[in-house]
Amino acid sequence: MKIGCPKEIKPQEFRVGMTPNAAQEAVARGHEVIIETGAGQGSGFDNADYVAAGARIVDTAAEVFATADMIVKVKEPQAGERKMLREGQLLFTYLHLAPDPDQTHDLLASGCTAIAYETVTDANGGLPLLAPMSEVAGRLAPQVGSWTLQKANGGRGVLMGGVPGVGPAKVVVIGGGVVGTHAAKIAAGMGADVTVLDRSLPRLRYLDDVFGGTFKNQYSTAGATAELIQSADMVIGAVLIPGAAAPKLVTRAQLSTMKPGAVLVDVAIDQGGCFETSKATTHAEPIYDVDGIMHYCVANMPGAVARTSTIALGNATMPFMLALADKGWKQACQDDPHLMAGLNVHAGQLTYYAVGKALGIDVVSPNVVIKA
Ligand SMILES: NC(=O)c1ccc[n+]([C@@H]2O[C@H](COP(=O)([O-])OP(=O)(O)OC[C@H]3O[C@@H](n4cnc5c(N)ncnc54)[C@H](O)[C@@H]3O)[C@@H](O)[C@H]2O)c1
Repeated sequence: MKIGCPKEIKPQEFRVGMTPNAAQEAVARGHEVIIETGAGQGSGFDNADYVAAGARIVDTAAEVFATADMIVKVKEPQAGERKMLREGQLLFTYLHLAPDPDQTHDLLASGCTAIAYETVTDANGGLPLLAPMSEVAGRLAPQVGSWTLQKANGGRGVLMGGVPGVGPAKVVVIGGGVVGTHAAKIAAGMGADVTVLDRSLPRLRYLDDVFGGTFKNQYSTAGATAELIQSADMVIGAVLIPGAAAPKLVTRAQLSTMKPGAVLVDVAIDQGGCFETSKATTHAEPIYDVDGIMHYCVANMPGAVARTSTIALGNATMPFMLALADKGWKQACQDDPHLMAGLNVHAGQLTYYAVGKALGIDVVSPNVVIKA
């Protein structure tokens, strides 16, 4: 198969859909890999790295789209890219179609087959191509939060680990899923005193079993949250209610009960945020102050560490990318129901129910299109 990887063109996007190592694996299996010049630069990969892996570099995205049987990307195709998709072409990338009718209609009109990273599933009911980015954002949260805690940045001037004779920072993590667990591990590793709140008792049991000696956990209620945030130096928002906006778990009025210069890091900002005073920020201006409490609310946190994020995403996507290339999408999806869960669009038909419901478009079952 001819596998093409264009340079990402969405503003502030420095990741790339294919690492040189992934390209090398594909080439070793007899596939042809075509990379747009400079595609890996934002993640620290030169053209030479791809050439050494056996890939071919081309000058324009147009050449990638015209040549490739399968396009591998990171972000949803932008309007100009969608015009270059053609019937029978396979697209493997994040799509997030439900809030995006324009993209959905363009993909349907193109006749392409589109498999969305975010709806591929795994045997544990997880989303294996979203998890790496939650891991990155979770591990980054205490790092950016500790920077914000520094006096010059508006914070309380508290060191995460304290020093001998001076106690550590108190960190509260609301939500103990992928983001929250990774945030808690890193905050505890920095020496902070960490408590994780969650509503799921099975999850709390897991956290207790695995991390009982590393950080504390508590059942999440409005009362427990109100009490813990009063003594917190940093609160990390990491809740998710699938398919819904994040619940507002800290109100503006509660900010006055917190210590001046305490820090809120709202990782759940991409779902609207779980603090009432959260509003999305960018890497250029990541923090702001409300009532003396510092807020960090960057909606695409993994972009700050593009190289780590690219490699982490590549590790997760590569086995699926190789299966699609080796077998073609139909056989690969027939063999793997978790990959089939990623099928969103095929030959002008929508194949993902939640997207159809959100946009009022008729949906055909993936089981039907796969047999056609
Ligand atoms: N800002 C970014 O760059 C970025 C990057 C990755 C993920 N995220 C977002 O981070 C959020 C968390 O993602 P995740 O992968 O950890 O999800 P997850 O499903 O693994 O975990 C969410 C957890 O929240 C818990 N929860 C739900 N309601 C709660 C409540 N009221 N109190 C306490 N806990 C509650 C759930 O039980 C679950 O354990 C999502 O909104 C995700 O989109 C943001």
